[in-house]
Amino acid sequence: MIGPVLENERVRKPIRVLRQWMDRTRARVRRWHSREDGSWRTRTDPVRGRKHALREEVGYWRDWLANAGGKWAAEYAYRFDPAAEVADPALRELLAASPRDEVSVLDVGSGPVSTVGYRFPGKSIALVPVDPLADEYDRLLARAAVVPPVRVLRADGEHLLEQLGRDRFDIAYARNALDHAVDPLAIIENMVAVVRPGGNILLRHVRNEAVRQAYVQLHQWNFDRHDGHLVAWRPGETTDVTAALAGRADVRCYLEPAEEDGATEWVVCVIHRHADQPLATS
Ligand SMILES: C[S@@+](CC[C@H](N)C(=O)[O-])C[C@H]1O[C@@H](n2cnc3c(N)ncnc32)[C@H](O)[C@@H]1O
Repeated sequence: MIGPVLENERVRKPIRVLRQWMDRTRARVRRWHSREDGSWRTRTDPVRGRKHALREEVGYWRDWLANAGGKWAAEYAYRFDPAAEVADPALRELLAASPRDEVSVLDVGSGPVSTVGYRFPGKSIALVPVDPLADEYDRLLARAAVVPPVRVLRADGEHLLEQLGRDRFDIAYARNALDHAVDPLAIIENMVAVVRPGGNILLRHVRNEAVRQAYVQLHQWNFDRHDGHLVAWRPGETTDVTAALAGRADVRCYLEPAEEDGATEWVVCVIHRHADQPLATS
């Protein structure tokens, strides 16, 4: 019965049109979500659309884990190697200068597995990686059947102080994470509060990353160096981080060319919390 009905052109035509429409829509959605053609949606606000952007971030790491890092296979191996020595040159300087044998390092916005490394000559490292997507990352790690040398805790930078408490770490570190946040200055203030007096914060971000990424996904903030100051900016909003921390912390900021392509610069910033000054923030 159904056969002759489907052979009837009056029935087949709308089905054909519907199918074509569905194919076009599917292709459009695929293009919309494709990372290859750069057609991710540009966002104009760090809050609006964040839920969707967080799902996109999870998708990125799902692919990364499923492909064992893909074209970043060496970095994948480094992150999962419990014997990996700290590679970040600025972090190595801070570790070498630390008077402590055991140095506690907080990695803010670590991703599913930290990029800090686990060893350093003459020191032991107590690493605490945190990320707001830690629970989702745990599920991805289980699905990929891999175990990170140190498990990531769930915490977003804007609430670090409430969640972790003040004066706890020797070094707070963030790489390419604060540009993904809602309020980078609030996170930096929290990082200053959770390190001990005399402790250090190290920020390493690709220069003006949100511009480079056309404000898609979680990329909403740019870090740059203006007149020696660290600034976080997005259209219509600029925060002078160095000025905001004046009297509480010294900020040393420099540009470093990237190793891989020579075209991408890093903004590297070492923030030294004064040893003898109480914090102004609550
Ligand atoms: C590009 S990944 C960087 C991961 C790692 N630091 C690295 O260099 O490979 C950005 C990370 O920042 C995290 N992130 C986003 N918003 C954040 C926030 N408000 N506080 C802390 N981390 C955040 C994301 O969940 C994501 O894991």
